[in-house]
Amino acid sequence: MTGVLALAFGYLLGSIPWGLVLTRAAGLGDIRQIGSGNIGATNVLRTGNKPLAAATLLLDLLKGVAALLLAAALWGETAGLLAGFGAMLGHAFPVWLGFKGGKGVATGGGVLLAAAWWLGLGAALVWLATAFATRISSAGAIAACAAAPVIAAVAGRWDLALFAAGIAALVIWRHRPNIERLLAGTEPRIGRRA
Ligand code: G3P
Repeated sequence: MTGVLALAFGYLLGSIPWGLVLTRAAGLGDIRQIGSGNIGATNVLRTGNKPLAAATLLLDLLKGVAALLLAAALWGETAGLLAGFGAMLGHAFPVWLGFKGGKGVATGGGVLLAAAWWLGLGAALVWLATAFATRISSAGAIAACAAAPVIAAVAGRWDLALFAAGIAALVIWRHRPNIERLLAGTEPRIGRRA
């Protein structure tokens, strides 16, 4: 029962679509009609508003951190992980947006950071290195997702490796359109319109 509660709690926190809320509040219209149509920070950056993109990144990340840490404090470590995964589901499939949400990169980063700081940091470094080399946000996200379970396994944390693999599977699955564009060589560079 506690597990279901933790999952639902995480889902509700994760379902707050910060990219949409912030761009609407700033009078930029509906972010789902811009660029890739995604509600994440990468797409908010395509509006040209860097502070808003940074705020989206931070708030999407923090909802992942908050879901895991609050649930862990209330109901224990396993509930924390369940709430973290719930936050991912909430971000990707928010009830408020007809279950059409984001790709879960920032929220996943927050969840991994809260699960183990070194895991979140490792994944973030892989994202940064790949995005710096390719200038493509989705390439960074996919590389970071692939690396996260490996980092946890190398550290001997098989529980976290499994958890990170679950998060990675969801995030990579949500990147299907990006993968098609990457293969076709049409994925836009960071900051460019899709
Ligand atoms: O954070 C999502 C990113 O990996 C891709 O975003 O807008 O290019 O689909 P976007």
